[in-house]
Amino acid sequence: MNLKGRNFLTLKDFSPEEIRYLLELAADYKRKKHDGVMHDTLRGKNVALIFEKTSTRTRCSFEIGAHDLGMGTTYLDPSGSQIGKKESIKDTARVLGSMFDGIEYRGFGQEIVEELARYAGVPVWNGLTNEYHPTQILADMLTIREEFGTLEGLRFVYMGDARYNMGNSLMIGCSKLGLHFTACTESKYFPNPELVKICEGYAKESGGTITLTENVEEAVKGANIIYTDVWVSMGEPDEVWEERIRELTPYRVTMDVMNMADDNCIFLHCLPAFHDLGTGIGRKIHEKYGINEMEVTDEVFESDKSRVFEEAENRMHTIKAVMAATLGA
Ligand code: CP
Ligand code: NVA
Repeated sequence: MNLKGRNFLTLKDFSPEEIRYLLELAADYKRKKHDGVMHDTLRGKNVALIFEKTSTRTRCSFEIGAHDLGMGTTYLDPSGSQIGKKESIKDTARVLGSMFDGIEYRGFGQEIVEELARYAGVPVWNGLTNEYHPTQILADMLTIREEFGTLEGLRFVYMGDARYNMGNSLMIGCSKLGLHFTACTESKYFPNPELVKICEGYAKESGGTITLTENVEEAVKGANIIYTDVWVSMGEPDEVWEERIRELTPYRVTMDVMNMADDNCIFLHCLPAFHDLGTGIGRKIHEKYGINEMEVTDEVFESDKSRVFEEAENRMHTIKAVMAATLGA
């Protein structure tokens, strides 16, 4: 398998075999890291990390992953560069592409990361756009495979806002890898029909299925994985909170929901999560709407069904695998 020189912009661009290869590579890097085996085979290379939105996991994963591989990193924060304000993406791409061996981009529209990739001349990795979050899906699939030993045939249920980056990307990943994907939410939050159609094509090849439903009981019966994400994503206006709380509360992941699923069902969340009053936004929402938890209850988040911190650790191993494969480690 040779992925050298490839961009990593959306999983739509990768075959199931290529995705499985990246998962194997990540598992191998994880073993090496845990065993203290050095793997700095990309010494002398450098990567640029552009973040137009904030991040904890993705930034740290790219930095630690790059350092473990022997590479240098330069972090460009949401305000500290000329990007988009004084310099176009096309010009930025050509400047950074002449200095760095790879570029990570987190920001707004998918078309921005695509334009960066078109002109950079070096691999560009999508660290989250409004539409897709492909590195997150690799971590999720690695976590699921570690739990169940397989991916094919598992029943995966996504609850909440399924028309944004996480819902879209999970539907792509599941349908490529043979899982049965269900989006369980109010119909206005279903993923866009065009993408559903594409994913139905992937599912046909892989043996998976796609289901969209508003019925929680039907959706979660027999589920192996229940997944959710924040109800309001980065870049969305504060005004939408009220509507989201009203419309998505029926799709909150509670212990009752988990208990309707398979006995072995696990809970996943890309994080950060609003499961208690430990965040500034969580407290503001509490003051305004009187609720303590949003997309997931604290009981589920902290329960023995939750694998969210294993999942977060896997961000690093999988992002390292993406950099290594596309830079030819
Ligand atoms: N899951 C995820 O992308 O987290 P960060 O926003 O902290 O990078
Ligand atoms: N949907 C969330 C994912 C964060 C990792 C957002 O875009 O803010």
